[in-house]
Amino acid sequence: MKLDTPESYERPEVRELLAQLRTELDGFLEGMMSAKNVSPKIPHDINSIVFLGVGGSGIVGDLLSDITAKRRDLPILCHKDYFRPPYLTRDALIVAVSYSGNTTETLSAMVEAYDAGLPTFAITSGGLMKEICKKLGIPVVEVRAGLLPRMAVPHMLGAAVSVLASAEFVRITTDEFKSAIEEAKRAQESVEVHKPLESNVAKYTANCIYNKIAFIYSHGYLSSVGYRLKCQLNENAKMLAVNQGLPEVLHNDIEGWNPAVANCLAVVMLRYKSEHMVIREALDRMETILKDRLGVAVSKIVSEGDSDITNILSAMVICDYVSLYAAIMRGADPIRVDRIRSMREGIMSNVRLLEQMARRFKVESK
Ligand code: PA5
Repeated sequence: MKLDTPESYERPEVRELLAQLRTELDGFLEGMMSAKNVSPKIPHDINSIVFLGVGGSGIVGDLLSDITAKRRDLPILCHKDYFRPPYLTRDALIVAVSYSGNTTETLSAMVEAYDAGLPTFAITSGGLMKEICKKLGIPVVEVRAGLLPRMAVPHMLGAAVSVLASAEFVRITTDEFKSAIEEAKRAQESVEVHKPLESNVAKYTANCIYNKIAFIYSHGYLSSVGYRLKCQLNENAKMLAVNQGLPEVLHNDIEGWNPAVANCLAVVMLRYKSEHMVIREALDRMETILKDRLGVAVSKIVSEGDSDITNILSAMVICDYVSLYAAIMRGADPIRVDRIRSMREGIMSNVRLLEQMARRFKVESK
């Protein structure tokens, strides 16, 4: 079996992703450390936290929103566009996240929010974002450079948690985070390369979906992990994937399935031990319909932890390994994202927006 054969891991780009995956979970604490000396002045009466960012950086807000769902009093919203959200009032705190620091959408929304007088802080490894923030006096957490943006998510998430927890907007202690990371490391070990396919849920899932379009069904606090898996399959394995949430799909999606699509679509269900009874029953019923009646391949990833943070981190790391294994099965290069690059560089108004910002702040355009 390809995934159990050591030679499958020899391509340099596979080795590179694997190396970043193996240190991924350590990024949380490193990210927290990077934020130690950054304490933006945040007014106490803010009424929402709005994350700006797209792609790998954009997922930081989604994950944080799920991680802290029961541990905060304010909503966390995620905005993935060139322009500041129209619904923003002056009482929102803006968190602009761009790993490269050169993403037009995030930079331009951040500058618009700054111009509107909103309290802002940024998380980046450098680029124009760092330069512009310096000019505008926007506090920046600088995380370690040199990673793939999507693999720097733990660093950026750790940084966001650190700032927001110190300002008492979210209630997570470093100890809680540490113990969740330790448990997630055990989940990671269970899907490592040396674990054979029969007992390795990440290899099994990748094998089910790699030559199909993956439909991911997620619920509750694993919704952001479902979205993360979709994005990782797109970028690392160069395949299409869709993330859909329960219970909504019980009212639409379920009608669309039929035996004719079983050849080209496969399902991944993200589940956790403590899911609500109604969700458990719904997912079990869906599985019976899809697998037994319609012949669709269904793979289940079950997070076994006792807390929401543990389940989110464990499911995330398992899903990241799914994307590595799917890349191997497809012979895809998990490092290069040439189309994303060609979109950034080929959309001329995107380039012009970036140049305008560089001119306005007298910094060098990248
Ligand atoms: O992982 C990736 O390479 C992409 O999804 C990037 O995160 C995305 O293009 C946005 O770039 P950045 O994260 O540097 O803002």
